[in-house]
Amino acid sequence: MALHLYRETDYSRYTSTTAYPTEEEERRQKEEMQTAEGLVSELALKLGHAPTCCVVTFGCQMNARDSEKILGVLKAVGYQETDSEDEADLVVYNTCTVRDNANQRVYGRLGHLHAMKKKNPAKRIALCGCMIQEPDVIEKIRSSYRFVDLLFGTHNLYKFPELLKKMLESDHMIIDVWKQADTIVEDLPVVRKYPFKSGVNIMFGCDNYCTYCIVPYVRGRERSRASKEILREVERLAAEGVSEVMLLGQNVNSYGSGLNGELSFPQLLQEVEKVEGIRRIRFMTSHPKDLSEELIAVMRDSKKICRHLHLPVQSGSTEVLRKMNRHYTREQYLALVARLRREIPDLSLTTDIIVGFPSETREDLEETIRLVEEVGYDNAFTFIYSPRTGTPAASWPMQMSEEEISEGFERLLKVVQEKARESVAKLTGRTEEALVEEVNSHDASLVTGRLSNNVLVHFPGDASMIGQYHQVKLKENRGFYFIGEKV
Ligand code: 5AD
Ligand code: SF4
Repeated sequence: MALHLYRETDYSRYTSTTAYPTEEEERRQKEEMQTAEGLVSELALKLGHAPTCCVVTFGCQMNARDSEKILGVLKAVGYQETDSEDEADLVVYNTCTVRDNANQRVYGRLGHLHAMKKKNPAKRIALCGCMIQEPDVIEKIRSSYRFVDLLFGTHNLYKFPELLKKMLESDHMIIDVWKQADTIVEDLPVVRKYPFKSGVNIMFGCDNYCTYCIVPYVRGRERSRASKEILREVERLAAEGVSEVMLLGQNVNSYGSGLNGELSFPQLLQEVEKVEGIRRIRFMTSHPKDLSEELIAVMRDSKKICRHLHLPVQSGSTEVLRKMNRHYTREQYLALVARLRREIPDLSLTTDIIVGFPSETREDLEETIRLVEEVGYDNAFTFIYSPRTGTPAASWPMQMSEEEISEGFERLLKVVQEKARESVAKLTGRTEEALVEEVNSHDASLVTGRLSNNVLVHFPGDASMIGQYHQVKLKENRGFYFIGEKV
């Protein structure tokens, strides 16, 4: 059932079936990088300048982390980073396909890149990520976007050095997309966006098969990384000056379930907590069905785990949740929230909500709005349901009209925003620790810091404070953020 999205015959044209043991593959990719480096030097001579690259990320934190790996390889072989897609000699789009509008944005922007490539025929364009795991997308790009140079998927990112080399050597479109992967290759160079904080993948893929969601099809079966590899990475990051880590997975609460004798997620958190130099630990995303008592206790007793939990509810109607295959009821979710609030009173809660799921009625949507009122989230990401080819829900009949969906969506959004404002405003006057992330882009006399609960505060400061922790008084509430002052 897991793979019914793919038509085997089509797929086999693009897939490579060679699987190398992890360490050998790492060694091989390092060799490929050396060859790629030589090709990039030749290219530099031809262009008269060091080739530039621009990696554009669509979608989630997982993609953001993958993009750091892509950029890491590109810089290691001699590319220079630029923010300008128009001018870059190589543009990489790391795509998302969770909703159709993400796909449409990519197609739209490809049109523009084509015009740029006509001006600069040496320009190269690579597409990777979740969207490229869809056979229909590959076909469309092959037939209508023939100017694209390289297509690869989510499972063979670790082969990027080799694919890059092939692309540089060839003037044909290179396509390498795998249906699934068993191996996890550990060692790719990474260029982190921030020197002081970093994402750390703890698992890949998802086995939950929510009926609306394409992720299990494009990211594959759930695979956990060995905890000793994760801890080694966190230690290395700490040694490099990273003080905040975000543990990443589609469902972190089921970490380790496929590995015999592996730590549970709460145990992993406790081990990460022991790493010297790490001051803050975040994680994303938690599935309510797998959130254990043990995790709540570990969070409660931890000095380093941030006071923020992203706990996607998706719907406030038990019947819709059942159709979504979420494995919890409205009541169970609310009981979980009550337990979390009791044990960790200052916890900030955020969520994801889908409006317009096929079986959803107006009454179901009212239940969602009531749930948001009851929980009072600190923030919620609201999405209009987008049918994804190959997922069960895509063929189910809709219960609400488009007008009913958009009217309900607007009302939900208002409640979300009111509640979020209320809950953020409660912090006014408090003094909290903020990690300074950047100089404010609108006012250079201010810096932007993030609190443990993920709320932002802008306060007077300068670039020398980036990466430092400061106690900040939250003086003035401006909706979802604060203006503050260092104390
Ligand atoms: N349509 C709309 N939203 C979706 N999400 C996942 N799949 C879909 C879809 N088909 C939302 C869920 C998930 C978030 C990352 O994206 O709310 O938690
Ligand atoms: Fe998609 Fe559900 Fe897996 Fe999240 S848990 S990635 S919503 S299938």
